[in-house]
Amino acid sequence: MRPTLAPFPMTRLRRTRRTPALRALTCETALGVGDLIWPIFIREGEDVEESVPSMPGVARRSLDRVVEAAQEAADLGIPAICLFPYTDPALKTEKCEEAWNPENLSNRAIRAIKQAVPEIAVMTDIALDPYNANGHDGIVRDGIIVNDETVEALVKMALAQAEAGADILGPSDMMDGRIGAIRKALEETGHSDVTIMSYTAKYASAFYGPFRDAVGASGALKGDKKTYQMDPANSDEAIRLVERDLMEGADMVMVKPGMPYLDICRRVKDAFGIPTYAYQVSGEYAMLMAAAQNGWLDREKVMMESLMSFKRAGCDGILTYFAPEAAKRLRAG
Ligand code: PBG
Repeated sequence: MRPTLAPFPMTRLRRTRRTPALRALTCETALGVGDLIWPIFIREGEDVEESVPSMPGVARRSLDRVVEAAQEAADLGIPAICLFPYTDPALKTEKCEEAWNPENLSNRAIRAIKQAVPEIAVMTDIALDPYNANGHDGIVRDGIIVNDETVEALVKMALAQAEAGADILGPSDMMDGRIGAIRKALEETGHSDVTIMSYTAKYASAFYGPFRDAVGASGALKGDKKTYQMDPANSDEAIRLVERDLMEGADMVMVKPGMPYLDICRRVKDAFGIPTYAYQVSGEYAMLMAAAQNGWLDREKVMMESLMSFKRAGCDGILTYFAPEAAKRLRAG
């Protein structure tokens, strides 16, 4: 397949890098506003934006402010936002009932956004951690995160979100069988058009630290998530998980975290050729922002370079806290 290069000096690879025009012609990857999904934290209250100390520039917004943010995203051409609730600790229980309350913060936000900004796709998070007294993504019984009972709870949660008008459901819990169970329930309840972006290859990562602060889960979590999230040492297992989620009815798959796992993005895209996304997670964002705030890195440049790396690795889109800033930068040309 690959032609043999003529030896130097017939071949000089710098020729095509000489001018902006030649570089534009030989550019292999494009990053556009349409590739961005903006994760947003929501909280109770009105007219509040509360900053998250470990994520400079990121805030928890009250519902009215979330709707404004959704409008801002739509105006910038960002196709989707993803909602994460900061739940009142008083609502966290061992059974996590608040997760499928049709009137919980997240479901109220979905309705408000779909009413005010119908053109933006609303993505959700399906996992019990914001509602769990134990901080885990699943129901805990005698110290074990029980799979099948959790899946039943996740199905209820998914249906409440679909009912509220969510466009993309994002199961981030890593339980076995949840995609199939959610897909079946959606089909049975007239929600056959709702898409599922599975957090398929989700690693047990220390890069989620700032996110757990943002949603108030850090204090609650007992132990770690290694019995359900993946071992960072594994790669073949990610391929099995993608195959499994596709067989169960996922429309899109995600690799998470992003930058430390670009090899997984590339393998998934090459193996399946399906819509593949990466989550540039809170810790990745915090790392770049902290260095930028110290004057050690150029914020805008590392933001754009990191986002491009996901596209180069085969991703169709990126969940990133940089979304609005990157969109502005991309629109400026
Ligand atoms: C919860 C969830 C997490 C993230 C997204 N959904 C944290 C976790 O699994 O502990 C992390 C996102 C980020 O770090 O930006 N299931």
